[in-house]
Amino acid sequence: MAGGLFAAFSSSATADKSSDSLTQAEKIEAGRKLFLLSCATCHGQNGEGVVAEDGKSNLGPSLAGVGAAAAHFQLETGRMPMVQTGKQAPRKPVAFTQDEVDALAAYVASLAPGPSAPTATEYDLNAVKGLSADEQREAIVRGGKLFLTNCTACHNFEGSGGAMPWGRYAPPLKGVAKQHIYEAMLTGPQQMPVFSNAVLTPEDKRDIIAYIYSVNDREQTPAYGGFGMKGLGPVAEGLIAWLVGIGGLVAFAYWIAAHTARSHKKEDA
Ligand code: HEC
Ligand code: HEC
Repeated sequence: MAGGLFAAFSSSATADKSSDSLTQAEKIEAGRKLFLLSCATCHGQNGEGVVAEDGKSNLGPSLAGVGAAAAHFQLETGRMPMVQTGKQAPRKPVAFTQDEVDALAAYVASLAPGPSAPTATEYDLNAVKGLSADEQREAIVRGGKLFLTNCTACHNFEGSGGAMPWGRYAPPLKGVAKQHIYEAMLTGPQQMPVFSNAVLTPEDKRDIIAYIYSVNDREQTPAYGGFGMKGLGPVAEGLIAWLVGIGGLVAFAYWIAAHTARSHKKEDA
C-alpha cells in the first residue's frame, strides 16, 4: 500500500524533471517527501530510527551516517522498504524508479556524512584502463585469496551462500550487480560485517568482485567434469564422500556377511 500511495504521489512530483536537472537541494527535498511516505514509520520522521514497543529492539535503525551507498544497496536490491520487520530483509522486486532511488539516497546521505556510492572504476576491473590480460588475471587470483579469508565463512566457496544462526542466511552471490557487491562490503547489511576501506582497500574490493564474477563465468572457469556439488566446499564435500563412500562400503560389508556360506549354514541348523 505504501508503495502504491507513494507511486501515485511521487510520479506527479518528479515526472516533469529527471534527476539530472534537479539541484542537489531539490533532490534531497524530493527524497525527504518519499521518505516520509514509505520509510518514516520504521526509520522515524528524520531518519533517527524508531524503537519498538518492547523498548529494546529497533523497528528500524537510525540512518544517520549510513550514506548513499547503503541507501542504493538497500533500495536497488529491493530490501527496503521492508514490508514487515522480521529476521532478515530479503531481496525483493525494486519498488522505486532510479530517479526516486537517487532522491532517497541523496536524502539519506544528507542526514550525516557516510560512504557515497562507488564509481565504475572502483567496482569494475573491466572499467580500469590500461591493464594487461596478465594483470587482470593476477587481480582475480588476489581477489580469490581475499574472498577465501574474508567471505567464505558465510557465503561459502564460490559464493554459493550458506545458513546462519537463528534462521538467517547469507545469500548466494551469483548474479549480484558489481556495484551492489561493493556496497554490501562497504555498508555491511544486517549480519554481514562492514569491510571499510581501511580493512579492504577499494582495490581489494574490486579484485574480490572480479573473482566472484570469474567463478560464475563458465567460459573463464570451465567445468572439469565429475559431480561439482555446486562448490559447497571441502567440508561439505568431504562429508558427502564419507556418507556415500564409507556408507556404501559398510552396506556392502553387511551384504557380504549376510550372503556367506556360514550364515546360510546357521539358518539350516
Ligand atoms: C517495516 C519497517 C521498515 C521500512 C518501511 C523501511 N525500513 Fe529500512 N530498515 C528496517 C530495518 C529493520 C533495518 C535493519 C535491517 C537489519 O540490519 O537487520 C533497515 C535498514 C535500512 C538501511 C540500512 C542501514 C544500515 O545500517 O546499513 C537503509 C539504508 C534503509 N533501511 C533505508 C530505508 C528506506 C530508504 C526506506 C523507505 C523506502 C526504508 N528503509 C523502509 C526497517 C524498515
Ligand atoms: C559474518 C557473515 C558474513 C561475511 C563474513 C560476509 N557476508 Fe556478505 N552477507 C552476509 C549476510 C547475512 C547477508 C544478507 C544481508 C541481507 O540480506 O541484507 C550478506 C549479503 C551480501 C551481499 C548481498 C547479496 C544480495 O543478494 O544482494 C553481498 C554482495 C555480499 N554479502 C558480499 C560479501 C563479500 C564480498 C564478503 C567478503 C568480503 C562478505 N559478503 C562477507 C553475511 C556475511
